[in-house]
Amino acid sequence: MQDIIRRLEEKREMARLGGGKKRIDSQHAKGKLTARERIELLLDDGSFEEWDMFKEHRCTDFGMQEEHVPGDGVVIGYGTVNGRLIFVFSQDFTVFGGSLSETHAEKICKVMDHAMKVGAPVIGLNDSGGARIQEGVASLGGYADVFQRNVMASGVVPQISLIMGPCAGGAVYSPAMTDFIFMVKDSSYMFVTGPEVVKTVTHEEVTAEQLGGAVTHNTKSGVADLAFENDVEALMMTRRLISFLPGSNREKPPSVPCVDPADRIDMSLDTLVPDNPNASYDMKELIIKMVDDHDFFELQPDYAKNIIIGLARMEGSTVGIVANQPLVLAGCLDIKSSIKAARFVRFCDAFNIPVVTLVDVPGFMPGTSQEYGGIIKHGAKLLYAYAECTVPKVTVITRKAYGGAYDVMSSKHLRGDVNFAWPSAEIAVMGPKGAVEIIFRDEKNDPAKIAGREAEYKAKFANPFVAGARGFIDDVVMPHETRKRICRSLAMLKDKKLDNPWRKHGNIPL
Ligand code: HXC
Repeated sequence: MQDIIRRLEEKREMARLGGGKKRIDSQHAKGKLTARERIELLLDDGSFEEWDMFKEHRCTDFGMQEEHVPGDGVVIGYGTVNGRLIFVFSQDFTVFGGSLSETHAEKICKVMDHAMKVGAPVIGLNDSGGARIQEGVASLGGYADVFQRNVMASGVVPQISLIMGPCAGGAVYSPAMTDFIFMVKDSSYMFVTGPEVVKTVTHEEVTAEQLGGAVTHNTKSGVADLAFENDVEALMMTRRLISFLPGSNREKPPSVPCVDPADRIDMSLDTLVPDNPNASYDMKELIIKMVDDHDFFELQPDYAKNIIIGLARMEGSTVGIVANQPLVLAGCLDIKSSIKAARFVRFCDAFNIPVVTLVDVPGFMPGTSQEYGGIIKHGAKLLYAYAECTVPKVTVITRKAYGGAYDVMSSKHLRGDVNFAWPSAEIAVMGPKGAVEIIFRDEKNDPAKIAGREAEYKAKFANPFVAGARGFIDDVVMPHETRKRICRSLAMLKDKKLDNPWRKHGNIPL
């Protein structure tokens, strides 16, 4: 017995040491924490329950029978974040470069299976050289087992990936199927093929950072949701993200005590929209002034900036915010912004998070690059996402709501529950100038007549009354009372029930 306890302690010590002191030092020298240090920071103090600390690989090729490290390069288990249960796996780069063996994959699958059974988020801390080269196809099978679980867990439990080192080749597809990807600047990268292969095939010369670093995926590709300066910041922000989310699709998101009065008014909002309809303003100002404690957790802030997405709370309960941003491309919807917002709306819908939509949209972006790029299909994603969404939907039109974009942005017609307009709202097929140039083409050489027609069109449509007369908006609200009116609407909608017809699944235009 004493012997077993001693051996147990030895094994635990070996597992804790991972690939050994030298490799741990090298990890630290790169500015990275170890797999266990990361878990310690992520979870509440002392809450971590580790599983499979003694699990070892079964490979006997290429001398692997001589090399065994208990745990096999991934630390798994569960614990709490602010008292709420989460499951975690953390790849240990000091053990065979964090590479994924058959056994390593089994460990990841184990936490995913449990997370699904009990209904709690899965956080993956990725730092891996990819498939364990010595294992060949066994390792590829392991990846596919993880992928299959990513798909089964999608929309059932929140899945969050932190990329904290290499993530290359097919390995990228597991994070890609999770709900959020956070990256660490200068120490993480993701790509399907690395710089060497790129050079051989396309003759482009790029560094790993340029090809797939945190900045690239947060500004150019839209693959990642946020970029952080270091591991600590990424882990702290993950704790913050979790605070907004339910454990699973069976729960409502958590509610926190709210000291910010629901009826707080903000008179400065009455002058947010400029008199000149072509002048821009910052929609983030409305968001910040409207949400609890001015606290907005923005996602993808540096990608497709013409649309803003993120999480916040109203009267203590989580809401998803989607808002056109007039400061960028006049708030037009284009391919990237449609995809960005569509995915977020679907996330909110899957996890019972009400969606608040703030609209100032002059339409879809014109141009050959948009049409050739498939704006028809991609714009339809956002339309589809809003239309299938059954969570409470509250919409505020602050200014322009033109054309198809009016319909798309959580309009009444797409089952918007409560649709408000500010007095500055203009709800029409298009802007007055464009409209008059088409319907009064014959008068185009008579500037006085055209100006008169424009004024006529403006008087008719550059206001919220026509839409109000049809019931397409429920009320015109003063900007300063926006928070109060949204809070009341959300409270009224708290027990909303709406089901879509049964089907195997819809066919969203991918
Ligand atoms: C086994 C690996 C490994 C791997 C790294 N190591 N990657 N062992 N399988 N895939 C080991 C190294 O041998 C080394 O062991 C230790 O991890 C650290 O690696 P270094 O190269 O010293 O580290 P660094 O210089 O930081 O470079 C990291 C790296 C590089 C860029 C990730 O190791 C690398 O290129 N690895 C191979 C990547 C790769 O080709 N993976 C397969 C991709 S295909 P020692 O003992 O010296 O410490 C794939 C398919 C997935 O993943 C398909 C899914 C469908």
